[in-house]
Amino acid sequence: MNNFEAAWLRYEKTKESESVAKLSGIVCDKKLQGNQIVQSAIRELQEGFRGLFGRELAVAESCCENRSIILSVDPLCPAESLQTAEVSPKTEPIGNSQTKKESRKESYRLSMQNGNVHITGSDANGLLYGTFSFLRKLTLQEDIQNLQEEKAPVMPLRMLNHWDNMDGSIERGYSGDSFFFVKNEVVVDERTRMYARLAASVGINAVVINNVNVKEMATYMITEKYFGKLDDMAEIFGEYGIKFYMSLNYAAPVELGELDTADPLDENVSNWWHEKMHEVFSRIQNLGGFLIKADSEGRPGPFTYGRTHADGANMLADAVAPYGGKIIWRCFVYNCKQDWRDLKTDRARSGYDNFIHLDGQFAENVILQVKNGPMDFQVREPVHPLFGGMTKTNEMLEVQIAQEYTGQQRHVCYLIPMFKEILKFKTYVNQDADTVCDIVSGKTFGQTNCGMAAVANTGNDENWTGHDLAAANFYGFGRLSFEPDLSAEEIAKEWIAMTFGQDEKVMQVLSKILMNSWPAYENYNAPLGIGWMVNPSYHYGPNVDGYEYDRWGTYHRADHLGIGVDRSHHGTGYATLYHEENAAIYDDPAKCPDELLLFFHHMPYTHVLRSGKTIIQHIYDTHFKGVEMVDEMVEDFLTLEDKLDAKRFNRMKERFFHQKEHAREWRDQINSYFYRKTGIPDEKGREIF
Ligand code: GCU
Repeated sequence: MNNFEAAWLRYEKTKESESVAKLSGIVCDKKLQGNQIVQSAIRELQEGFRGLFGRELAVAESCCENRSIILSVDPLCPAESLQTAEVSPKTEPIGNSQTKKESRKESYRLSMQNGNVHITGSDANGLLYGTFSFLRKLTLQEDIQNLQEEKAPVMPLRMLNHWDNMDGSIERGYSGDSFFFVKNEVVVDERTRMYARLAASVGINAVVINNVNVKEMATYMITEKYFGKLDDMAEIFGEYGIKFYMSLNYAAPVELGELDTADPLDENVSNWWHEKMHEVFSRIQNLGGFLIKADSEGRPGPFTYGRTHADGANMLADAVAPYGGKIIWRCFVYNCKQDWRDLKTDRARSGYDNFIHLDGQFAENVILQVKNGPMDFQVREPVHPLFGGMTKTNEMLEVQIAQEYTGQQRHVCYLIPMFKEILKFKTYVNQDADTVCDIVSGKTFGQTNCGMAAVANTGNDENWTGHDLAAANFYGFGRLSFEPDLSAEEIAKEWIAMTFGQDEKVMQVLSKILMNSWPAYENYNAPLGIGWMVNPSYHYGPNVDGYEYDRWGTYHRADHLGIGVDRSHHGTGYATLYHEENAAIYDDPAKCPDELLLFFHHMPYTHVLRSGKTIIQHIYDTHFKGVEMVDEMVEDFLTLEDKLDAKRFNRMKERFFHQKEHAREWRDQINSYFYRKTGIPDEKGREIF
């Protein structure tokens, strides 16, 4: 079971350049050597050199004649220029925002001076990230002769949310079972460390280990039964600069049988949590805080007691504040018992409607975690209007690299291009720092409690992510949250080289596959932003009406004349929740981008899109095109047979063959559905059933 590969930390044998060959050891002063994170950096350098160049690096406390890798920490690193580059708030700061210098934590500088490599961190985390960056350069055979790099992570929190259950299953897990839990026990072993190395190597600094749906034994994670093992795990994370987080059951005082209410304004409840947090934080040393899904999809929350989400979040925030803890509170709150006949209620509005009036009421150590779109991780959604809607509340962006609706790690779907679009989206909340990236990096409002979280895509499969190519999303998420300016293609190429080596053909084929994968998937999936059309509950495979007459608020409203949800001011009004510049575009079918048209408007199939095609012809064309794109991917992939090792080649081949078949299933079911509904034939006379 504990069989795992090294993913992108393979450190396979490579050529050593002259300047690298001269480096004979690591220099790090004694005090620094006592720091566990620095020890990880040293181990990583040693492991890297062993793998890449087949030699050992000795560690010394001070410089000698020989050329070395010199590790140091300097709180003023990197240079002042970088420190002031992006941190001055453009709008009134939220709460007690920290000073400029503190907001450039975790940064590093790499340089070459007199043949020595200097890795300087602003703190231990920065030093570790600098080390990983240096090792990346060595793996990619970059010339280090003129080594000079300064980086500070753009997102303060770079977090993974695991949806692992204590019984070992993973909600929306597509790569095996949990490696954190087996049969209601916490597992700490070699894999824990490997996981922490992988996460830290791409800059992840916070991990939530359990499912947001906290049920059964998971409620007991804050009790004596589990403290020992959880502390062991948290300690390993800590060695890699990763704060340990858990998801919390809002009704824990009741479900643990200690109180008969979880009312946030009840003094007994507040006292209970204060005592509990004192206990938990004293037993788990490296604890960062908690993630909470409340009043959502059947989970308990403050609504039960007629209280607001601010009441609930602030009560917990107060209890964790003495320990520097954070409360990450999810905004995924909607009515999941809707009547499909009800045309007025709009799930897309619910996150906004439930939270907007609370803007400014949340404590400084509360961060609202908002999904990228208003529905649920569909292949295409507009950006959530709470970004730019709220101006006095800490927010972080939640994306999903577990490909729940994007092929479940059986189809290849590289999501970094999608995340880039989301981050670049202009909210118009102010004049000059208004993108989602600006907001969640703290640039817009000057806060430091913000960042990005991804629902994780790992499991105990040997290769961590099921599809080998799905690891690009894990890698990419980390790299993007550290450095959102990197392009999706740069990240893809870096990951390919780290994972498969430097062969030009491998690079060309795999990067093309990755870059085409999201567009291909969108082509053969639900059209024009309408989403869903999947099999209920497990969310895999086409089923156009799968959710049409269900209670989850996810409808396409197709009849024989038209399709789409009217979210304009004539309809549910969702389009008007954005700042005027965006609202004017989304509200008007003539201005709305094609790819979101059916999300915002109910339109006749004969409506001519901005592309010049009718909606029905667009549906046919994109579905044929999507399959062609997959066919091409598979054909290209097969040319790599003699370039990749057989194990990984065959593993991927199997998934590609499945995707080829399954993309056809999507194409034919969707095309046939709309042909039968409309009676309008394909202009090009292709086969539709
Ligand atoms: C989706 C997903 C659930 C998950 C939920 C959430 O609805 O299907 O499994 O619990 O999102 O984000 O909380």
